[in-house]
Amino acid sequence: QKIYQRGLEYERPPFTFQSLKWEAQAEERMAAESKGYVVGNAGTGETARKNREAFAKWSIVPSRLNKTSELPNLSTQVKRISEQRLPFPIAIAPVGVQRIFNPDGEVASAKAAAREGVPYIMSTASSTSIEDVAKANGDGVRWYQLYWPSNEHNEITASLLSRAKKAGFSALFVTLDTYILGWRPSDMDNGYNPFLRSDNIGVAIGFADPVFRAQFKSKHGVEIEEKIHDAAAEWTQTVFPGFSHSWEDIKFLKEHWDGPIVLKGIQTIADAQKCVELGLQGIVVSNHGGRQVDGGVSSLGVLPRIVDAVGGKIDIFFDSGIRCGADIAKALALGAQGCLIGRPYVYGLALGGQEGVSHVLKSLLGDLELTLHLAGIQSASPEHLNRSVLIREDE
Ligand code: FNR
Repeated sequence: QKIYQRGLEYERPPFTFQSLKWEAQAEERMAAESKGYVVGNAGTGETARKNREAFAKWSIVPSRLNKTSELPNLSTQVKRISEQRLPFPIAIAPVGVQRIFNPDGEVASAKAAAREGVPYIMSTASSTSIEDVAKANGDGVRWYQLYWPSNEHNEITASLLSRAKKAGFSALFVTLDTYILGWRPSDMDNGYNPFLRSDNIGVAIGFADPVFRAQFKSKHGVEIEEKIHDAAAEWTQTVFPGFSHSWEDIKFLKEHWDGPIVLKGIQTIADAQKCVELGLQGIVVSNHGGRQVDGGVSSLGVLPRIVDAVGGKIDIFFDSGIRCGADIAKALALGAQGCLIGRPYVYGLALGGQEGVSHVLKSLLGDLELTLHLAGIQSASPEHLNRSVLIREDE
């Protein structure tokens, strides 16, 4: 409402409210390599396109005269992840190497998340240390995303988890779809691997990890700083080992993480059921924004059947393709308890650092609030926002 009033007074806002324009405007601010990295997808981009098209197949059906005088309550309950209700049904998706988009990188986005009351999921591949992200995030809600080193590096995994715990990260998100980066032609055309660019990732990534540092020193006889490129290559190899774990390995995570565990990148019913069987707390239905398996199914396409199979037994987050308030409403109506916002906030970061990220979060939430309100939906809770408010246009 505030935004509307300000707009009506003809005060030009610093950033556009047209969410589909964030990408193009951010592109103007970025170097070709950073642009290719964030905008790029796997292969031909078919899965990324399908992610977007899947939203258009579902439509919200507004209902009338239901005494909706107050704005809808946007809070959500992800009871296995957070004891308290979260004020909003969104979180910041883990995105690595954010300093390639803005010199303040993760510090800017972690501050914005805390200010807007949105949980921050920090990537293992961050260009800022766990401790510095925690400091920037202050008393915000924060969760740690693990790129899971192979079993021979269990000592490093344990070190990352214990540092995250100490720094106040309250849940662990383990990404399963990226043990190696996908076939990404835009990065290949640019000859670009952001993780090996020690110039723009600075002290970066895992360099603050004492176990990684000690192992590097005993192997090479020098500190990381003296062989920074080799260190970046070894770190990259450690967190993207090129092959995946097995379900048995989850035991190790449970032993080393005292708190909720969420597996990110789930697309099949069988995998979702396995998570329930193992007593895990959550899943993220995600295909990494179409950046890993080209030709893969849309993430929204698999959401309803996964909800039908495991809904109520585990907390369900959704991502891949969310670009506006209505998209969030549809994913929640189909049974997700929360949505992760990916590329839109990265565009905000490129456009204006912390202010840009805040703008994107506030815009998406404002849009969601008015969309629900005008559709006669009183809250973002399943009691009001469920499949009864949707129809499929293609049936
Ligand atoms: C990602 N994503 C990601 N996921 C993760 O678990 N760890 C990470 O470090 C990253 N890094 C990353 C970088 C960039 C530039 C992008 C665009 C994405 C995936 C991310 O968390 C999320 O799943 C997708 O961004 C969702 O798709 P959309 O909505 O951004 O298209």
